[in-house]
Amino acid sequence: MCGIVGYVGREGDARSFLFDGLKRLEYRGYDSAGIALAYRGTIAIQKSQGKLTVLQESLDLLPSGVPCGIGHTRWATHGRPTDANAHPHTDCQKVIATVHNGIIENFQELREELLANGHHFTSETDSEVIPHLLEAYGGTDDLVNAVRRAEERLRGAYAFLAISSRQPDIIVAVRRSSPLVVGIGEGVNYVASDISAFLTMTRRAQVLENGDLAVITPETVNISNVHGMPMLRPEMTIDWDIRKAERRGYAHFMLKEIMEQPDVWGDCLLGRIRDERVLVEELGLPLPHLGEIRRIHVVAAGTAYHAGLVGKALIERLARVPVDVSVASEFRYQDPVLEPGTVVLAISQSGETADTLASVYLAREQGVPTYAVVNTVGSTLARDSDYVAYTHAGPEIAVASTKAYTTQILVLTLLALALAERNGRARPDLVRALRRVPMLGQETLDGLNNIRAMAAELMRSRDVFYIGRGLDYALAMEGQLKIKEIAYIHAEAYAAGEMKHGTLALIEEGTPVVAVVTERTIARKTLSNILEVKARGAEVFGIIDAQMAHQFPVDHLLPVPVSDPLLAPVLAALPLQLLAYWTAVDRGRDVDQPRNLAKSVTVE
Ligand code: M6R
Repeated sequence: MCGIVGYVGREGDARSFLFDGLKRLEYRGYDSAGIALAYRGTIAIQKSQGKLTVLQESLDLLPSGVPCGIGHTRWATHGRPTDANAHPHTDCQKVIATVHNGIIENFQELREELLANGHHFTSETDSEVIPHLLEAYGGTDDLVNAVRRAEERLRGAYAFLAISSRQPDIIVAVRRSSPLVVGIGEGVNYVASDISAFLTMTRRAQVLENGDLAVITPETVNISNVHGMPMLRPEMTIDWDIRKAERRGYAHFMLKEIMEQPDVWGDCLLGRIRDERVLVEELGLPLPHLGEIRRIHVVAAGTAYHAGLVGKALIERLARVPVDVSVASEFRYQDPVLEPGTVVLAISQSGETADTLASVYLAREQGVPTYAVVNTVGSTLARDSDYVAYTHAGPEIAVASTKAYTTQILVLTLLALALAERNGRARPDLVRALRRVPMLGQETLDGLNNIRAMAAELMRSRDVFYIGRGLDYALAMEGQLKIKEIAYIHAEAYAAGEMKHGTLALIEEGTPVVAVVTERTIARKTLSNILEVKARGAEVFGIIDAQMAHQFPVDHLLPVPVSDPLLAPVLAALPLQLLAYWTAVDRGRDVDQPRNLAKSVTVE
C-alpha cells in the first residue's frame, strides 16, 4: 500500500506534477519517496528515506521540463525504509525504472533466478524483481512486450508503472488487484493509485480493472489484457470538490475532516429522505432486493468495523433483522455459514482494503449478494459489489478515519430505517429527527470549548480505558482506536459491565476512564460502573447526553445534545475524535501520518 503516480506529456514538467501528486498520495505511505524521469537516453532518479519533505531537498537535482516520469511514496512491507529500498527501482543498465504498489509473492524465486542469470540487485525489496525481469525479457528495447511477458511470471496483488529512457514517451501501467486510475488531459495523460493525485489537472478518468495493462502516451491510452486483447474502460467525469482534499487553513487534515462533519453529513443525507421516508433506491438497493434481506453479515476493518457494530445495533433494534459483524481478516478464513437470504455488507472508506475485498469475493463465490457502503467512487469494492451506497464524505486524507466513520453510520441508519419500514416498524419520528443531525453536529462542536484542557490532562497518561454499554460500547471501541492510532497511548474499550470481571484491577489513583453515556434506558447501569471506577481512584471523562449530564459525577464533562439516542453515535463521535486529536497534538505526534500506518491497507 504505497502511492504511485505517472506523467507523460508532449511537453510539461513531470517533476513538479509528480511531486505534487505524491503529496496528495502521501497518506498511502510515507516511509520513503522517489521520482524517476526518462529523457535523452537517461533515467534520472532521486529517492530518499523519510517523508516527501526530505525528497523535496534534492528535487532540484532532477532536470526540469522533462515530460515523462513516475513517482512513488512507500509504506514498507519487504525491506526496511531506507534510501536503497525506496522506489523507483531500475534494471542493471539503468534504462528501465519502475514503481510498484502491493506484494510480489514469488519474488524470492524470481530474484534467485535473476541473480543466477547475472542480475545485480541493490535493495531488499520484492519490487526490484520487476525492472530486472523486464530487462531479462528485452524491455530495454520493447517495454510493452517485456511487461506482457513479465506479467505471466509475477504472482500477487499489485500495480506497477514502468518507463524506459529509450522510449521516453510511454508509461506502461499494470493493475492486478491494487488500484490504478488513468487521468486524461490534452496532450498529456496521468496515471495514479488514486484520482486525487491528478484532480487539479483533469476530471476525466478511466479506472483500470484487474488484469489490465495500459500503454499510456501523451495522446493515447490503450488498455488491453496481458495477452493484448483490447479492453474497453468507460471514461468517467469526477465531480469531487478538490478543495475538500486540501487543508484550507487547518493545522491538520484530521482537524479539518472532523470540523467539516456537519456539512458532510448534510451531503450524505441529501436526496435520501423524502417527507418521513427513506428513499431506498438512493441507497443503491433496488426495492425488490430490500424485501429479500433476512440476515446481514457485515465485513470491515478498523474504524469501518466499528461503524458496523453501530449498524448492527441500529438494524436489529429498528428492523429486527439479525446482523453479524466480522473483522474482514477473520471472516475470509472462517469458512462462514452464509444462508440464503443473507447479504454480505462490506463497509470501507477506501474501497481498497485487501481483507474486505477478499471477504466480498468469498461471499460472491458462495452465491450471496454483496452490498458495499463505501466512500471512494470507482473503487474496487464499489465496482465489484452487487449494490453500492456511497457515503459522500469526500476525500478523507488523514490516516485516522473520522468523517468516513460517521457517514458510514448515517448510511447504516438510513438502511435500518428502510428495513424497519419494510418490516412494518416505520419510524417517521426518527427520519424527521435525522434531518436535524447536521445542525446538532455543529452544536456539539460549538459546545466543546473545554476539550483542549481535557486533552492536556490525558496527554501524560500511559493507559486509558473507554467504557460504555450498547451503542456507547461500540463508540468506546472507536474512541480507543483513535487515541492509540494518533497519540500512541495504550487504550482499551470495555463493555462497562465487564470491568468488574477483571479489568477493574488495573484502575488506580488517576487512571483515566472515558465513559460514553447516550443510551438513556441503561444510563443508570453505566452510572454504577462510573461510580465503581471512581471509587478506585479513576479520573473520569464523561461524554454524556446533555439531558442527563447533571446526574453523572464525572471529573470532566463533554455534553452531547442528543435528540434520540439512536442518532447519538455520530454526535458522540465528535468529542471522541477531538479528544484523541488534541491529545496527539499535545504529545507532539504526527497526527495526519501516524507511525507505522498508512491510509489504505491494500496488502493482507
Ligand atoms: O478504507 P477502509 O475503511 O476499508 O479502512 C479500514 C481501516 O484500515 C481503517 O478504518 C483504519 O482502521 C483507520 N486508520 C482508523 O482510523
